[in-house]
Amino acid sequence: MDMKTFGYLYYKARGYEPEAILREAELSEEEYNFFEKNLSTVLAEIEECRPQAEKIGTDFVRLTRYIYERESDQSMNFTRPDAVKVRAGELVALPAIGKIEMPGITLQKAIEQRRSLRKYSDQALSMDELSFLLWASSWARDFRSNERMEITLRNVPSAGARHPLETYVDIRRVEGIKPGLYYYHPIKHCLVLLDASEAKAIQIFEGCMRQEMIGTAALNIILSAVPYRTVWRYGQRGYRYLYMDAGHVGQNIQLASEAIGGGSCMIGAYLDEAMNDALGIDGVEEFVIYVASVGKKCSD
Ligand SMILES: Cc1cc2nc3c(=O)[nH]c(=O)nc-3n(C[C@H](O)[C@H](O)[C@H](O)COP(=O)(O)O)c2cc1C
Repeated sequence: MDMKTFGYLYYKARGYEPEAILREAELSEEEYNFFEKNLSTVLAEIEECRPQAEKIGTDFVRLTRYIYERESDQSMNFTRPDAVKVRAGELVALPAIGKIEMPGITLQKAIEQRRSLRKYSDQALSMDELSFLLWASSWARDFRSNERMEITLRNVPSAGARHPLETYVDIRRVEGIKPGLYYYHPIKHCLVLLDASEAKAIQIFEGCMRQEMIGTAALNIILSAVPYRTVWRYGQRGYRYLYMDAGHVGQNIQLASEAIGGGSCMIGAYLDEAMNDALGIDGVEEFVIYVASVGKKCSD
């Protein structure tokens, strides 16, 4: 879904008059008429879901109490989910973990100076810096696999060590790596090129509702969740943990960004449909959960 389609649906479903929809969603009359003709089923679905959507938060918190849990898929010996996804594509090696120069900034300093940074300099990140960010947020320091259980252990905590998050990097300015959308393999510590087109970069910018920092960042880290990895063990309560896990990863991205003389901004305002589509994921078995823009600080 692009911003125009979203804009039409958003304002139409809220009962705006046609002129207001044209203005707010920045539509031409032709675009408006096209949407009027083609989006009536989507609008009907929005209407139908709205009563449920209006109270889903309270229902979610109530119905994911332990008291309602049935026996988990894990305890019923359902096939274990894999710990990591496999994405095919051209591989890009990253500086090995033990070899990267870790920045000298203290933890106290990193925490003290952390702010959401939304303006970046034109400076590219080095491969060492990228490697460091991924080490801090997503790298698997251990991998254990047998028939009954497969886990990774990382530099962030995760409920039951399920680590349901996958990491994608929308690279715009990193020395030695061509711009494009990459998947990060947390065990092999390498990138897999998914799409190097300009159109993909635009889709991600649009998907994040044209927030300026997405377009000016040196890179954007897009985190997705594979819920069944956690749900297999915790049932529906596992959905709570996905968001907690994402918070830990986000904080390490923020602190690691400070440590490399840069900064980051965590982003929760994105269009689910557009971002899931950008990564080629279905939005159910895997969905985008959090985004972070990262770049160097401006000198002024
Ligand atoms: C879950 C979450 C979602 C956020 N989403 C956005 C966003 O979409 N756009 C944005 O500009 N900032 C976003 N932020 C950044 C907050 O606006 C920011 O953390 C807050 O204003 C406090 O400022 P500080 O981080 O500089 O202390 C988000 C932060 C969090 C934790």
